[in-house]
Amino acid sequence: MDPRLIESSIRDDIAACATPDDLEAARVKYLGRKGALTAFLRSIGDAGAEERPRLGAEANRLKALVEELLDARRAEIGGLDDNELYVAPVDGTLPASGGAVGRRHVISQTLRRIKSILEGMGYRLARGPEVELEYYNFQALNFPEEHPSRDLQDTFYVSKDILLRTHTSPIQVRFMEEHKPPLKIYAPGRVYRNEAIDPSHAAEFHQVEGLYIDTDVSMADLRGDLQFFLRGLFGPDTDLRFKPHFFPFTEPSIDVDMTCFGCNGSGCGICGQTGWIEILGAGMVHPNVLRAVGYDPDRYSGFAFGIGVDRIAMIRHGITDIRMFLANELRFLEQFPEMES
Ligand code: PHE
Repeated sequence: MDPRLIESSIRDDIAACATPDDLEAARVKYLGRKGALTAFLRSIGDAGAEERPRLGAEANRLKALVEELLDARRAEIGGLDDNELYVAPVDGTLPASGGAVGRRHVISQTLRRIKSILEGMGYRLARGPEVELEYYNFQALNFPEEHPSRDLQDTFYVSKDILLRTHTSPIQVRFMEEHKPPLKIYAPGRVYRNEAIDPSHAAEFHQVEGLYIDTDVSMADLRGDLQFFLRGLFGPDTDLRFKPHFFPFTEPSIDVDMTCFGCNGSGCGICGQTGWIEILGAGMVHPNVLRAVGYDPDRYSGFAFGIGVDRIAMIRHGITDIRMFLANELRFLEQFPEMES
């Protein structure tokens, strides 16, 4: 065998070694009992007497070369032992690289803002289940059975009597059943409707319910609280406008508009040039609802309101597609760094 061929294959093989196992394989390939150099050494005996010294010297040189290259390569790849754990060298003096930092979802941020204002106004937190009894979602809220008003809120039914709540109003009923007036609560939560999905309709969104029951609560109290609340959320120049509406569980019922915070009422793109933004539904709690929880409607009165959290977030941030809230799209979510709150 030509020693020059052996040498170039030695150099190639050892240079290609990446692990201690590779190095060992290369050693065996050349220096092992059946190795190439061993075979070469043996073949020297068959050569002519004048050739032997040169071939012997060549064989020794190659053997030394293999050992030298193996050592050098072992040093290069870190001298790892099979049983040794590899510990990457750490330069503790390097500055920390910016890790990925999470943040609150823009809906959570909006909710926290809403909560902090309402809590400052004396509303206390109440909660209720998302999978709700038909009774609390409709019946006790004065939706007559089989009445078309139930179609106002297309419902996901779990069974005949159980559904995904279509609004946070059932929490009113649950709380009143358990407590005596006076009471003042807010109730945030996720709600579900069997809607055709589009940029302004989602099948799952968020509401905050407000409820205040006492003796002699009037529409003026409702107006005062809503004004204080919306000024906290949208700024001190916010004014309100009430429009008649219908909800089975309030009488009278109203839709509340507020002056557009984009133009202060003069008309702009946010409010569709009207100067007003429709922001929530409200009304005076219907006597039938009070009766359903055992309150005397001649003694007690109260108001309720329902806020769409998604809608508030969209208005505050100029978001035009409600579906983005549940899209899990980082490029969207990262546009809303934590707000003060
Ligand atoms: N529950 C109503 C809805 O989802 C909102 C509302 C709440 C209206 C309280 C009046 C009073 O549309």
